[in-house]
Amino acid sequence: MSLLGKVGILGTGSYIPEKIITNKDIEKLVETTDEWIITRTGIKERRMARPDEYNSDMAVEAGKKALEAAGLSPQDLDLIMMATITPDMPTPATACFVQAKLGAAHAAAFDISAACSGFVYGLALAKSLVQSGQFNKILLIGGEKLTSIIDWTDRGSCMLFGDGAGAVILAERAEGEGEILSTYLVANGQDADLLKIPAGGSRMPSSEASVRDNLHTLKMQGREVFKIAVKVMSDAVLEALRRAGLTLDQVDLIIPHQANLRIIQAIAERLQLAESKFFVNIDMVGNTSAASVAIALDHAVRAGRIQKGNYVVLVAFGAGTTLAASVMRW
Ligand code: ACO
Repeated sequence: MSLLGKVGILGTGSYIPEKIITNKDIEKLVETTDEWIITRTGIKERRMARPDEYNSDMAVEAGKKALEAAGLSPQDLDLIMMATITPDMPTPATACFVQAKLGAAHAAAFDISAACSGFVYGLALAKSLVQSGQFNKILLIGGEKLTSIIDWTDRGSCMLFGDGAGAVILAERAEGEGEILSTYLVANGQDADLLKIPAGGSRMPSSEASVRDNLHTLKMQGREVFKIAVKVMSDAVLEALRRAGLTLDQVDLIIPHQANLRIIQAIAERLQLAESKFFVNIDMVGNTSAASVAIALDHAVRAGRIQKGNYVVLVAFGAGTTLAASVMRW
């Protein structure tokens, strides 16, 4: 029972659907070009889940891989947390479907709603829950089926998003093992209008009018989001490092939310860090919101980009607006 002991990641996993949507496919839907999308976003393709493939199904696949990497079985879990803005249904929590499909009989389950920052919010929460002694083995998943909420007529947003899931297992760690050194979470509700799905909640329940007016899809003020994202994500990296007692020059790898390659490049410039210090997979997965950092982390681990003892920074920004960063020693 950890009471303020060290908490770290035991294993990572991810899943992306088979179906690839290329920029050429997007060209058939809206007035755009492959060249424009690559130059302005860095995205070459994104994945799309089958109609009968639910967010919980992708989450289960990612979760199984994380369990395998950690050498654990679903029976070992005592909590499943799922960060998402595209739950299978408004209620119950998608984490409950994941719990049932995995057969994690002893696990509590709930969802986290913090948009693209949800996975990093979940890391902070998981760390505290293990440290307090409430839970011992936590499966944290970031999963999204964003293709179900995209406005496919909006060329300013439809090319950005894709589907997928990433997962980690968190537990107490011994001295000398990898650990989460710091977390930093904030929000600015004043900017809530920049990114939203107007209908489908209790404020505007679904109706013929809400469907006709296409209000169940993601509305985004892209240019404003871009500007804020660069500043606050840079600041969050520095604050999380300060809390960990580290400096930028000690960082081995930064895993940023994959929203736009130009945002990542601008953060690198602002922090005066080489772009090679930033892990990038947006070219092949697009922006997967709460799944983004989780998938990128697993891809980085499996590509050998993170070695034991490395200092790794996770940073994300999303609707709300929410902002989160975390520093880990691997
Ligand atoms: N193809 C061609 N032209 C386009 C396209 C497109 N797909 N999209 C927009 N344009 C046009 C615009 O209409 C505009 O034309 P105009 O000058 O004639 O009005 C021009 O390109 C420039 O538009 P901007 O919006 O200024 O383009 P920008 O360079 O900012 O790129 C983008 C738009 C890619 C959306 C960018 O603003 C961005 O990435 N923003 C951040 C999005 C983000 O990070 N979201 C994260 C949160 S997601 C979440 O929380 C769920």
